[in-house]
Amino acid sequence: PYETWKWLRDERPVYFNDERGFYALSRYDDVAAALKDTEAFSSAYGTVLELLTPERQQTGMMINSDPPSHTRLRKLVSRVFTTRRVSDLEPKIREIAESLLAAWTPGEEFDFVQQFAAQIPSRVIAELLGVPSEEREEVRLIIDTAFHLEGDEGFTNPTAVNAILELAGYLQNLLERRRTEPIGDLFSDLAATDLTAQECVEFGLLLVIAGTETVGRLLGWACILLDAHPDQRAWLVENPDKIGQAVEEVLRYEGPSPVQARRATRDLELHGVTIPQGSPVLLLNTAAGRDERKYGPDAEEFDVRREPEHHLSFGYGVHFCLGASLARLESRIALETVLRTHPTWTVDHDRSQRAHTSTVRGWEHVWVR
Ligand code: HEM
Repeated sequence: PYETWKWLRDERPVYFNDERGFYALSRYDDVAAALKDTEAFSSAYGTVLELLTPERQQTGMMINSDPPSHTRLRKLVSRVFTTRRVSDLEPKIREIAESLLAAWTPGEEFDFVQQFAAQIPSRVIAELLGVPSEEREEVRLIIDTAFHLEGDEGFTNPTAVNAILELAGYLQNLLERRRTEPIGDLFSDLAATDLTAQECVEFGLLLVIAGTETVGRLLGWACILLDAHPDQRAWLVENPDKIGQAVEEVLRYEGPSPVQARRATRDLELHGVTIPQGSPVLLLNTAAGRDERKYGPDAEEFDVRREPEHHLSFGYGVHFCLGASLARLESRIALETVLRTHPTWTVDHDRSQRAHTSTVRGWEHVWVR
């Protein structure tokens, strides 16, 4: 899409798709301003184009809400989803990464996405949610069924819908158990807030939805990009303290959550175009990550030595990714572990495959040796 993104930024900063009736913004400043302006660009009708509804949605998912209901939800969950809870996961994440990589015999083929990248976040989320170890496998299978489907019908596919309902049922039951016998974990603490049971379950679901596929796809991109730039990979092996910075560059360059949908709440005027009230507007945050107006003439170059600049790949404003610190931690540890144990690899492009979904952008299989 890179040429299309550039064409949009340069020629159609307010693009209108007359076939499907949506607008799209792609310049850094425009996307940032729109993400920030929740009064003009509402999230309450949904944030995925295919799932936008004509009326405001009545869910407890904060990602699909505007202030003030968003403010209330975000404040309550932030007391429970703390920096401390995330940083406490570090040793566990390292253990998961090391055990997965132990299956990669040097010289042999390995599916970097299926055997490693996609495995980490689902295990970490199960840990974060406090799923008891004897129930882990069952929960991991449900998550895989719900989120590892190919195709545009991902969200509406009956198998996926059933798996999400099954997961909701499981989380409801876990919440009840933690309410009667709190053990100080995320769900025990959630149960003690002013959130309703439904809001707690929806928050648990949101963590799974937002935090599983995104991290796996990001790591797939890191694998591809570092193979394409062996000098940068060697530099990171020499300078492991720069791996966090490299994660930011992968996010800027190939952000896996490239589009956030909104609905215009009134007529909006931008670059001489009027966006009529009620129109769906797509905010292309990954296209914005390559905007020369923001990043200079080498915006389209991948360079892990680049000083991290604020990018929009975790969103911006009130909906800024709640899990950004966890995503950064998982990605840094995963890459640290790979670069330590398997410092060089070659991607087999003929066998590798992109995932075709309209939401999370990345690879389904990346075969490496
Ligand atoms: C929101 C990206 C990982 C939880 C967002 C948004 C983006 C994003 C762009 C803003 C959506 C909007 O404005 O409509 C990413 C990327 C990730 C990642 C690229 C990985 C590389 C995670 C993880 C979790 C998480 C690991 C938690 C386990 C959330 C939640 C929200 C959110 C709860 C909603 C925040 C709100 O509405 O206030 N994420 N995310 N994300 N993300 Fe992430």
